[in-house]
Formats: sequence, C-alpha cells, structure tokens
Amino acid sequence: MHPILFTYVGNIKLTGDSILDSSRLMTGLGFMKTAEHSRRVAEEAKRLAQCWGEDESRAEIAGWLHDISVIIPRDQYLPAAEALRIEIIDEERKAPILIHQKLSAFIAQDVFGVNDKLILSAIGCHTTLKIDSSKLDKIVFVADKIAWDQPGDPPYLPQMVLGLDRSLDLAALCYLNYLWRRKDSLPAIHPWMIQAYLQLSKRFTIFP
Ligand SMILES: [Fe+2]
Ligand SMILES: [Fe+2]
Repeated sequence: MHPILFTYVGNIKLTGDSILDSSRLMTGLGFMKTAEHSRRVAEEAKRLAQCWGEDESRAEIAGWLHDISVIIPRDQYLPAAEALRIEIIDEERKAPILIHQKLSAFIAQDVFGVNDKLILSAIGCHTTLKIDSSKLDKIVFVADKIAWDQPGDPPYLPQMVLGLDRSLDLAALCYLNYLWRRKDSLPAIHPWMIQAYLQLSKRFTIFP
C-alpha cells in the first residue's frame, strides 16, 4: 500500500474481500453515510447489470468502491493526487471534488487489490462519465445518480427512470443533460462530461 494511503487506512485489517473490506473501512473510520450510499449504489448497479446483461459481481464491487476516496479529507484531495502521481487537469484544480473519482480508482487498486480494468474504469468516471464509456461505466454512473446521497428525491430521477425503460445511454444522458442545463452555475465543468454529453446527445433526438 502506498504510504500516503496508509496514513488514511491505518491499521484496519483487510481480508481480501473488497466488498466486506470497503464496508468495514468506511464504517470503521466513521463514514456511515458514504457506506450506506455505497451499499445502495452497489445494489442498484447489480440490479442494472442483471437487466442489461453485464457482470453483476463487477457492478457490485465498483458500486461499493466508487466513493472510497471519502477516507481522504477533501482539503487533501489535490495534495494526495499529486503525491500519488495522478494526473490533475485544470477543472479538477478548480473543483477538487471532481478528482475524487480518480482517487477512488487508485485506492481500489492500491489498497483493495482490484486489477480489473473494467471495474477501475467504472469507478474512475462515475461522476463525469467519459467518451466511449463501457456498459459497466454507464451502469455505475446511473446507479450513483439513482441512489444519490442528498436529501429528497433527485430532480432528474423521473426522466432517468423513463430513460432506463429504453436504454442505459438515455438514462445516462438524462443526468448529463441536467448538468448541462446548470453548467453556468457549476464551479467547473469536466471535459470528460462534455465529451460524454456530446457523444450521447447525438444518439437521441427526443429526451423522455
Ligand atoms: Fe462520487
Ligand atoms: Fe456516489
């Protein structure tokens, strides 16, 4: 384990079962809300994987680990990413929350030993999506938005649920479209999100 990450993980014993370990780590460090959100994302991702013919186990693991960077304090995101030699783009410097997806993917590999590229990719773009995203990328992205971690119901949810009746692409686009309409009020807009939005929006002429 990278020494920087050891300072956050501490002496919590890991068993090699990434689902059990991520749950224990988050609850052990007091991140109950994120642990519960991750459980719900994993459950939703598994359900979506079953519906859309993707590997359920991969979806579940990605769901559990997607926000594991919660173990790093927010004001440490950029210094930690620098120390871990993760590429940081301008938008991530402007809005450091945007880099938590890359940090989670790094932790999934370095601390939990996840080497499956599909799982790491889905964790690493769960906030923004990206161009040419895989089915698993979209499943984890949509599951995260359905099981959102803010109070009340997400404003985009009815459209997203309607979209899911037709395709994962359309469901993902519903959220990207919601973000796009609010882009002027966001501190930064990640280029991966722009590219994903432009690519997916070309596939549909009518939104639900
Ligand atoms: Fe997240
Ligand atoms: Fe999340």
